[in-house]
Amino acid sequence: MNSDTTGSGTSPIATMKVKDTSIDMPVRSGTIGPDVIDVGKLYKESGCFNYDPGFTSTANCSSKITYIDGDKGILLHGGYPIGQLAEQSNFIEVCYLLLNGELPTQTQYTEFEEAITRHTMVHEQMSRFFTGFRRDAHPMAIMCGVVGALSAFYHDSTDINDPEQRTIAARRLIAKMPTIAAMAYKYSAGQPFIYPRNDLDYTSNFLQMCFAVPCEPYTVDPVIARALDRIFILHADHEQNASTSTVRLAGSSGANPFACIAAGIACLWGPAHGGANEAALNMLTEIGSVERIPEYVKKAKDKTSGFRLMGFGHRVYKNYDPRATVMQKTCHEVLDSLGIRDEPLLAVAMELERIALEDEYFVEKKLYPNIDFYSGITLRAIGFPVEMFTVLFAVARTVGWVAQWKEMIEDPEQRIGRPRQLYIGNEPRELVAREKRG
Ligand code: CMC
Repeated sequence: MNSDTTGSGTSPIATMKVKDTSIDMPVRSGTIGPDVIDVGKLYKESGCFNYDPGFTSTANCSSKITYIDGDKGILLHGGYPIGQLAEQSNFIEVCYLLLNGELPTQTQYTEFEEAITRHTMVHEQMSRFFTGFRRDAHPMAIMCGVVGALSAFYHDSTDINDPEQRTIAARRLIAKMPTIAAMAYKYSAGQPFIYPRNDLDYTSNFLQMCFAVPCEPYTVDPVIARALDRIFILHADHEQNASTSTVRLAGSSGANPFACIAAGIACLWGPAHGGANEAALNMLTEIGSVERIPEYVKKAKDKTSGFRLMGFGHRVYKNYDPRATVMQKTCHEVLDSLGIRDEPLLAVAMELERIALEDEYFVEKKLYPNIDFYSGITLRAIGFPVEMFTVLFAVARTVGWVAQWKEMIEDPEQRIGRPRQLYIGNEPRELVAREKRG
């Protein structure tokens, strides 16, 4: 089998030879980034499937939302670089951008922010869900359950064919995720739930729902609120990653948006994905001191150890993760603002990064720190326990999931996602009665 790309102008074709059959397949170009070969008719014309475990060479959709150039370390939302959004925008504005493709005017911003604020409360009966969980339940387990349960409470926004209901569902999810996340935290801490406050912005409100208690006033630290808002921006969307693809696949069957986002949360939980921020902090804690770093770097290079440097490496970035650059800066800002001059884990992280970036193994494999490397230290300094780290990722990523889900529903090319397989099981055989089996 071989293939070559030929043709000229706007409609090139790729020709693939499968045994004796030559198949011409259209090559499609996006605005920027690699072209795609449309292999849709491959099976019909050759009888062969495309085999690509892990989807390393497979584009599953066309999308206008996010662009990544992993070799150059570029991440754009709606064409805007992540660094500029993190410095000059805020999370609500980025939510609007991801959902609508453009940054809002002042009027659009005010209307959108108000709509999100008005949806922050959850149905009062939902609080009973939490008490069904053990106090020591992982908050991500609670998130999977409670977010999935939203579809049982908001029947008026589950009709995916109604654009207005889709919009309401999107806004409800973005608005209620911080409330549900804060309730999961309060439940595990044995503290009463704190209601949302509509006079606070999105991120300040989340901080007060997490850290306020009924017996004394709570003042949000604006530096911390700004830092967390930036962390939310950094996590808002990341193209067709595992959890987003899960949301799209779940949604392709026509499942309601709340169920789809619950599926995304379940996928995010894994340590190779969103769970890496928790795993990275646990790893830094385990390393404990700069002297022990070489031992762990050696272990990470030993394939038989099963150990990897958490917060290092990325499927797409073969250069510094641009989110990690902002995250590292934010980490220093938060520690400075809180007066934490001597954070031993930061010293371990920075030295580990330095050593790994000079090590031949990591250089050759292009393994750089990713967003999760510094986020744990930052979130812990703000006051979140490690179990909450992936929950915070989920809060921020909800807008990306919802935007991608909406785009998929509105895309006339999308059909139910139904991958095929290379079957390696038994060939057809006759069933032998149990008493005659040897
Ligand atoms: N430490 C040591 N070796 C590594 C690491 C690491 N963190 N990551 C990759 N490698 C090696 C791997 O062993 C393999 O070596 P070889 O080619 O000799 O077999 C090579 O690098 C390529 O790795 P891969 O597993 O084939 O790459 P992938 O694209 O399938 O995996 C990854 C990407 C992010 C799952 C992986 O780098 C990893 O497990 N990193 C640690 C977990 C982590 O930090 N995840 C967060 C990702 S960013 C946030 C998010 O997506 O949620």
